[in-house]
Amino acid sequence: MLLDRPVLFFAGKGGVGKTTCAALTALAAARAGERTLLVSTDPAHNLGDLFGPVAGGVAHEVSARLDVLEIDPVAETRRYLDEVKGNMRRLVSSTLLAEAERQVDLAGRAPGAEESALLERMVGVLLDERVRYRRVIFDTAPTGHTLRLLTMPSLMGAWVDGLLRRRAAHHDARAGWLGAPEVPEDPVFELLHRRRLRLEQTRSLLADRAVTGLVFVLVPEALPIAETRRGIDELADHGLAVAGLVVNRVMPTATSDPFYAERKRREREYLARIDAMFADLPRIDLPLLAGDVDSVAALEQLLPAFIEAEAQASAR
Ligand SMILES: Nc1ncnc2c1ncn2[C@@H]1O[C@H](COP(=O)(O)OP(=O)(O)O)[C@@H](O)[C@H]1O
Ligand SMILES: [Mg+2]
Repeated sequence: MLLDRPVLFFAGKGGVGKTTCAALTALAAARAGERTLLVSTDPAHNLGDLFGPVAGGVAHEVSARLDVLEIDPVAETRRYLDEVKGNMRRLVSSTLLAEAERQVDLAGRAPGAEESALLERMVGVLLDERVRYRRVIFDTAPTGHTLRLLTMPSLMGAWVDGLLRRRAAHHDARAGWLGAPEVPEDPVFELLHRRRLRLEQTRSLLADRAVTGLVFVLVPEALPIAETRRGIDELADHGLAVAGLVVNRVMPTATSDPFYAERKRREREYLARIDAMFADLPRIDLPLLAGDVDSVAALEQLLPAFIEAEAQASAR
């Protein structure tokens, strides 16, 4: 089954229905008896709009077997910097510590700091927190942000490799001068090495199709189709395969109104384009509802169509 994997990510353009699909999948899994964690990595969270207050960066139990976690990038950055400072206290002499801490605080305000902290928490969810759940479902931010998050484990891994090599060269040089063959104890090397290992575990977990399913959500319109194509190609460049698509907000067929008949005609063209462009991917079509999907009750209204469409997609 397309959505029957331990780890799922719902990606796609803003407003196409990522949160809706992630919440539907989580609800279906929890109702089917599986302990489920629904995680939002979108700084503009809206799981709270569906499930009630869930902020604070910790998992909240919202119903039987269903926990919801909104990762807060600001809080994660603070936590991450505190951890770095904690490590430094063990590594840096007290005369340098104040200056070193000042540098860390500056780095915390640099571009990319919140992304790194978000990555750190995602790694923690995947490698540590996941043991408590049968399923972990990620509701993500719009495409660009999520592509960076998903490809960061391999990019950062390569970067840490470079640091490790320099550190090793430094030890070799020192051993050469001192004539001591053995590598000295080096807590920095240990830390970098541990970090490298966790990034590699995360990278291979994301690339393992038996564990992780990357699902693109789109609506049958030109721009979301184009963005989905680019997103799938970019992930493929990083060795990450997309498992399938959800095409959301498909209009009802029967309509006599000429305006809606014209919209429906266009939609058919876009659906045909999706068919042709993503022929190799399983696809779930979800109907457009008359109202918003802004509560658990509304999710429940959409749930049977979702489960039915998934069964069809998986049987194809
Ligand atoms: N099938 C649907 N029918 C009607 N409204 C929908 C449907 N799917 C999503 N919506 C509405 O569209 C808006 C965007 O959906 P959302 O899941 O928040 O998108 P994203 O997380 O991709 O930004 C929300 O107001 C939601 O209620
Ligand atoms: Mg969303």
